[in-house]
Amino acid sequence: MIKYEQVICLRLRNLKNTDEILNTCEFLITDSSKYKGKWKELFGNDNPIYIEIGMGFGKFIYENALKNPNINYIGIEKYDSVLVRALEKVENDNIPNLRFIRMDATEIDSIFDKEIDTIYLNFSDPWPKVRHTNRRLTSICFLKKYDNLFKDNMHIIFKTDNRHLFEFSVKEFTTYGYLINDICLNLHDEDLEDNISTEYEEKFSKKGMPIYKIDVIKQKNNV
Ligand SMILES: C[S@@+](CC[C@H](N)C(=O)[O-])C[C@H]1O[C@@H](n2cnc3c(N)ncnc32)[C@H](O)[C@@H]1O
Repeated sequence: MIKYEQVICLRLRNLKNTDEILNTCEFLITDSSKYKGKWKELFGNDNPIYIEIGMGFGKFIYENALKNPNINYIGIEKYDSVLVRALEKVENDNIPNLRFIRMDATEIDSIFDKEIDTIYLNFSDPWPKVRHTNRRLTSICFLKKYDNLFKDNMHIIFKTDNRHLFEFSVKEFTTYGYLINDICLNLHDEDLEDNISTEYEEKFSKKGMPIYKIDVIKQKNNV
């Protein structure tokens, strides 16, 4: 049996490791507002920039960055304890087209300005209570914040296991003027050749749960 002192010791050691990784990882951009409107300077090229909001442990964005070296990726996550797991993945790699930001997405419009091509929202927290509707990352409240992030047309790709959140999101996207490029009610029943799964997606699809996906687009001048 592990003693209380040993648990505290393990916790402190983990915290120390977490702090060390967060303070030293060159892939984590700590002064992100400084790059507002200038992210292409950070990457040193004009390649498109795709972001994932609420990336969790980062499998999806990491694998995308490896597969598509001509696209720049930025993963955004609000919790240190989660973010650190993504940073550990890249510790020993040199991936020039991948960076991470620790932040709450409520502040997202303070760090990007007309420079993003695509936003990925994967298995976003469902916030089931009606009074928390505006916290859902696909709510019109967030869609309004995203408007000014996009360089040209607004493009969002959303995956979830949560039927209620999916139905809500389809309504929000279409009410806000997004057009549906593609929609799928059971992603893992289809040809998955191009699909990169997330940690949550793997967990839920292994349980046999359907994965919903929608790809939406809105013309920039249709705000
Ligand atoms: C259910 S997990 C999904 C993680 C990952 N996308 C996946 O599919 O495996 C949702 C993640 O979004 C993060 N998150 C939720 N709200 C956020 C916000 N407002 N800003 C940034 N990250 C957020 C959470 O901390 C959590 O890591």
